[in-house]
Amino acid sequence: MTATIIDGVEIANRMRAEIATQAADFKQTYGYAPGLGVVLVGDNPASRQYVRMKQRACEQAGITSVSHLLPSTATQNEVEAAVHELNDDPAVHGILVQLPMPPQIDEERVLRLVSLEKDVDGFHPLNIGLLGMKGREPIFTPATPTGCMVLLDEVGVDLDGANAVVVGRSNIVGLPVSLMLLKANATVTVCHSRTKNIADVVRGADVLIAAIGRPEYIKGDWIKPGAVVIDVGSNKVDDPTSERGYRFVGDVDYEGALNVAGAITKVPGGVGPMTITMLMVNTMKAARFLARKTAM
Ligand code: GUN
Repeated sequence: MTATIIDGVEIANRMRAEIATQAADFKQTYGYAPGLGVVLVGDNPASRQYVRMKQRACEQAGITSVSHLLPSTATQNEVEAAVHELNDDPAVHGILVQLPMPPQIDEERVLRLVSLEKDVDGFHPLNIGLLGMKGREPIFTPATPTGCMVLLDEVGVDLDGANAVVVGRSNIVGLPVSLMLLKANATVTVCHSRTKNIADVVRGADVLIAAIGRPEYIKGDWIKPGAVVIDVGSNKVDDPTSERGYRFVGDVDYEGALNVAGAITKVPGGVGPMTITMLMVNTMKAARFLARKTAM
């Protein structure tokens, strides 16, 4: 069996075209464009690159962006002031605080300050708390986990009662995606660095979310035949055969999994484009909510 390839680029492009239409309609109705506010602290090249990609994708869809680019020496007060400014700016509907922050910054305090109505990254502790509670709904859910759920939906997986295994428990992906799978009535197991016999746990997965950040860590013979595999990893590895001298691989041994899984995402071209797209979806939602509220 060769797995169905879940094409994140195609799905993301389709969704972005729809967002562009919505943004144009929004501008026509309200006379201004939806806006995303960005706080980026420091010069981590990966974070800068992510932010550039997010802003470019927003621009292409007609969502404007306002940036606060602070040096790696920024103080807590300076970062908090940037968030306050974006909270108060009527042209900004969604706020993105790019993580991680430099060590002198108390990330938790910064995320708490983001207005709940503008929390398009879904990282405010109240939104995460609501995500974890039965019968409650957060206003926004984090972009990468939401993108994983959209990909599962696209492939038509029935999550009700399915065994879902999440490898990784980060605040950005592993933890929130496990809460989202639980909300969708999956039976969820979260594996992490202390888990014993990870391979055996993964072998029970009807749905596998790999988000551990280790290149090709999950081997083909760990995959249950027919399982749906979402690979969130994006690991830079040396590759002297490529022009750039490196390439990106996922957390799953793609070649090994391809003949066992029922469906699988590629790296790159799987979850990555969905992350940016879900941020745009959330920004549109925030813009509509705030515009209606101010029009009342
Ligand atoms: N750092 C890595 N992924 C993300 C993300 O989705 N949002 C933010 N804010 N920071 C990140």
